Amino acid sequence: MIKRTYPQSRLRRTRAKSFLRDLVAENHLSTDDLIQPIFISDQSEKTVKIPSMPGIYRHNLDSLYSETEALIKVGIKSVAIFPAIDADKKDQKGSHAFDDDNIVCLALKGLVERFPEVIKIADVALDPFTDHGHDGVLLDGKVDNDQTLELLQNQALILAQSGADVLAPSDMMDGRVKVIRDILESNSFVDTIILSYAAKYASSFYGPFREAVGSSANLGKASKKTYQMNFANLDEALHEAAMDIEEGADIVMVKPGTAYLDVVNAIKSEFQIPTFVYQVSGEYSMLQLSIEKGWLDKDVMLESLLCCKRAGADAILTYAAKQIALELN
Ligand code: PBG
Repeated sequence: MIKRTYPQSRLRRTRAKSFLRDLVAENHLSTDDLIQPIFISDQSEKTVKIPSMPGIYRHNLDSLYSETEALIKVGIKSVAIFPAIDADKKDQKGSHAFDDDNIVCLALKGLVERFPEVIKIADVALDPFTDHGHDGVLLDGKVDNDQTLELLQNQALILAQSGADVLAPSDMMDGRVKVIRDILESNSFVDTIILSYAAKYASSFYGPFREAVGSSANLGKASKKTYQMNFANLDEALHEAAMDIEEGADIVMVKPGTAYLDVVNAIKSEFQIPTFVYQVSGEYSMLQLSIEKGWLDKDVMLESLLCCKRAGADAILTYAAKQIALELN
């Protein structure tokens, strides 16, 4: 260890001018690192405001395409789509997830046709489609792991067939990555990427998302704690990531972001594989609302994302992707 004594060493020297600070900056954020989540729904209006997410809208398909074009213009090249499904199409098993003309499949096909180069990420989970709002099938009031796996496998195949480049299982069932990898391989989708939500915690930061996709209507106060992780745990996150990698995940993700950067750092250091982080709806809304109120400077958003990079994230899903891209340009 080098001895650092004052005044031989004055750490303020390299902070004295903006260009110096740039020269010694250890981490950088660019549009290459950002993924924009987009909410879609079968609606006549082009866009519908999401009250708990300032500046974020639900889009119909036309608007999804124009939004994607706008994203490409500012340098965002990846989108993750999340559907809000009409209540009358939801049921106990999330059957509508397996119709290849559901809004997600239509969106994927439309995006493939118009924007072949854009990376299309689709969530694998049943919660947008189930009337109870859980990510799997309920059996005697419990989310049944193994029955859910079969359904997730079907959902994954349909999404791959519709043109998803990346499947992102966010359900937290045990064994889901394996069954998804198996069905992809046996159907010759050898290049489809699995981005597993390896360490997804049972978090209250998801509230605005659940409002946006309408999955909270019947979920009420029921929690997802029997399948999402306990936020007290870190070793368990490494265990989850190890299993997902073993089962065929190409990229692992941690979620939520800001309060979980120790988890990002631990996973990236341990496995050295592409590691993403999801700055989730609640984190975004807290910051964005404070910015809009003038309580926090708008730079706080960039700060929160750069800190994700510093922790070891290779890319970030963030609702602020477009607005940050505009700033970075
Ligand atoms: C659904 C899913 C959730 C999020 C992404 N996929 C919510 C949940 O688990 O209830 C949350 C994203 C966010 O809050 O921005 N499986």
